[in-house]
Amino acid sequence: MTLNVLSVASEAVPLVKTGGLADVVGALPEALAAHDVAMTTLLPGYPAVIATLGKKPKAVHKWESLLGEPARLLAGKLGQGAAAQALLVLDAPGLYAREGGPYGDATGRDWADNWKRFAAFGRAAADVAGGVVKGLSFDLVHAHDWQAGMTLAYQRFAPAGPQLPSVITIHNMAFQGHYGADLFPALGLPPQAMAIDGIEYHGGISFLKAGLASASRITTVSPTYAREIREPGFGMGLEGLIRARESDVSGIVNGIDPAVWNPASDPALKAPYTAKALGKRAANARALEAEFGLERGDGPVFIVISRLTWQKGMDVLLEAADHLVGIGGRLALLGSGDAALESGFHAAAARHPGRIGVRIGYDEALSHRMLGGGDAILVPSRFEPCGLTQLYGLAYGCVPVVSRTGGLADTVIDANLAARQAGVATGVQFDGVRYQTLADAITRTVHLFRDPAAWRSLQRAGMSADFSWTGSGGAYADLYKSLTVTP
Ligand code: ADP
Ligand code: GLC
Repeated sequence: MTLNVLSVASEAVPLVKTGGLADVVGALPEALAAHDVAMTTLLPGYPAVIATLGKKPKAVHKWESLLGEPARLLAGKLGQGAAAQALLVLDAPGLYAREGGPYGDATGRDWADNWKRFAAFGRAAADVAGGVVKGLSFDLVHAHDWQAGMTLAYQRFAPAGPQLPSVITIHNMAFQGHYGADLFPALGLPPQAMAIDGIEYHGGISFLKAGLASASRITTVSPTYAREIREPGFGMGLEGLIRARESDVSGIVNGIDPAVWNPASDPALKAPYTAKALGKRAANARALEAEFGLERGDGPVFIVISRLTWQKGMDVLLEAADHLVGIGGRLALLGSGDAALESGFHAAAARHPGRIGVRIGYDEALSHRMLGGGDAILVPSRFEPCGLTQLYGLAYGCVPVVSRTGGLADTVIDANLAARQAGVATGVQFDGVRYQTLADAITRTVHLFRDPAAWRSLQRAGMSADFSWTGSGGAYADLYKSLTVTP
């Protein structure tokens, strides 16, 4: 029997993306279709999303007042052609019809009414899950991150009706949606919701906690991160709740879409290639050097594709940049984020012309070209729930150099002696994100690179690993079924 699942999230590829959340939400419906799960995705109606619905989108429901805002539910498609999946869009112009990003204005400042934008989104999602739209019924709700967390609180505290089982996935504990208790009356929840096992958090309100406290099951995007968030450094204040619900928490690692991330058929690459013909990467490497103004050299080209933030360890990489160049490496960096890091990397590039090239901005096609031509991808994150760029690196024979945390620990096999002898090593891992540990990992990578047979072995082992959605799609389907099928 097909299970109908409502997936609730604030971003999804190809419509709106600020990070890996969008990749995952966009890929899940197809990944689950193979397991007899029909997934409908609900997104907020940002202008870019509404624009894809055509001139006269079909309204399947109307709210006169959703937390005071008039709103409509529009139906569309996520993706194209045979792979297209069901999409619902919450069109509430007072909340979402504005220029800028999904969470803030063009300068990156959060919208002051984000509490209302995502509470209304949760309210609408709970209504949809509860069956307000004629002909649409669901067996389970799957909410992602704090922006969808309130869905599960509205469901749980609904005045009537049987509750649907629910799953919440934590893509990043660092973002929790905290607001003042003074907003509580505006949320339209009954008084008992403002309690320690409800949405209350240290005297205020937490949207992520609302979801975690209300969901039937909690998942996060790697088994290691599922363990890490029981500890204060990673749980970021919610470790107690995670521990209390330990038996309901599990980790399911993200997949990547092999149709999009495949060096053999990637239209962005000058020279497509396979594991058997790695020599062809040279043409991509030359193109990459030209694009980043890098000189030829006999050391590896390290690449970075990242948000430039503390989470990603970019401040430590900046400290280690001189060392990287000093031992014969080169660096091509694509990213945007903190202004101080952006200017820091510009300064590093100015110090090392021909050795460090920097592109500030967001550029999907360039990220593909970097993976096809770079030798190693650096991901020195302080914490990383899953991480996707190291998976792209594996698929492209661009060897990942990663800190041993979260999904990075779960998806890369360090080139220690035993792993190299067994031929299973796929990258370099290091413990603790500090100057010395990163500098040592960079040194180790340069030495490995200078041993062509060892390097080829790392590349080939990475390229033969399967990080498609096959396994993880099945894991989500099993979880849904365990919650919906009565024995
Ligand atoms: P996070 O979601 O924490 O930023 P992930 O590794 O899960 O980290 O996902 C990041 C996604 O965003 C990947 O698809 C990555 O390729 C992409 N990305 C990040 N920065 C850029 C950029 N500057 N240009 C193009 N793609 C980027
Ligand atoms: C978050 C995490 C990242 C993860 C992504 C998708 O943005 O920071 O590690 O890969 O979500 O789950």
